[in-house]
Amino acid sequence: MKKIKIQNQPFGPFPTMIIGADVNGKPNYVTVGACGVVSLKPVLYVSLKSTHYTTPGVKENGYFSVNIPPISMVEQTDYCGIVSGKTVDKSSLFTPFYDELGRAPMIKECSMNFLCKVIQVIPLFDFEMFLGEIVAVYVNEDCITDGKPNPLKLNPIIMMGASYYSLNEVVGNLFRTGLKLSENK
Ligand SMILES: Cc1cc2nc3c(=O)[nH]c(=O)nc-3n(C[C@H](O)[C@H](O)[C@H](O)COP(=O)(O)O)c2cc1C
Repeated sequence: MKKIKIQNQPFGPFPTMIIGADVNGKPNYVTVGACGVVSLKPVLYVSLKSTHYTTPGVKENGYFSVNIPPISMVEQTDYCGIVSGKTVDKSSLFTPFYDELGRAPMIKECSMNFLCKVIQVIPLFDFEMFLGEIVAVYVNEDCITDGKPNPLKLNPIIMMGASYYSLNEVVGNLFRTGLKLSENK
């Protein structure tokens, strides 16, 4: 197959997450693609533009939440990435809930929620990368199968290029599917 060389730009796939933080005493929510794991530790990173309304809220409280919206929330999710808390009050878009371990609003309507305590802030260009230790995790009861979160029931939104996508099917199992190759040798 011939390869076509294109622009030096990330393309995805990226997870679509909604980050929650209290800002000026009210919940605010921002949609991000720059969010994920950094090692095998229970730590998530999120990169937020320094000028976003949410960013000082994360710094002041020392906590943020990472919320996985299901595909049914794609409209609200995109909206949180279009409007800023500087001009639009996003506090009543969702039902917030809190854990005693840290001050960050988690979103009831999202299928899974992580409460993270900021342990490191890394300035990156005009963004700040927050490393957050996971201090609490919540999952909707109906998204659990055999005691574990079921990705197809969580139904996360994946972003790639200019569109949002859903998970479709299981195509393999971690650390198992590849074993077939060693069995054949
Ligand atoms: C799909 C999508 C992905 C985004 N990813 C990021 C991101 O990773 N980091 C970031 O700082 N902003 C990201 N943004 C932009 C912010 O969500 C947007 O500027 C938002 O309005 C900022 O809200 P705030 O000012 O209330 O914090 C993204 C927006 C969309 C629609």
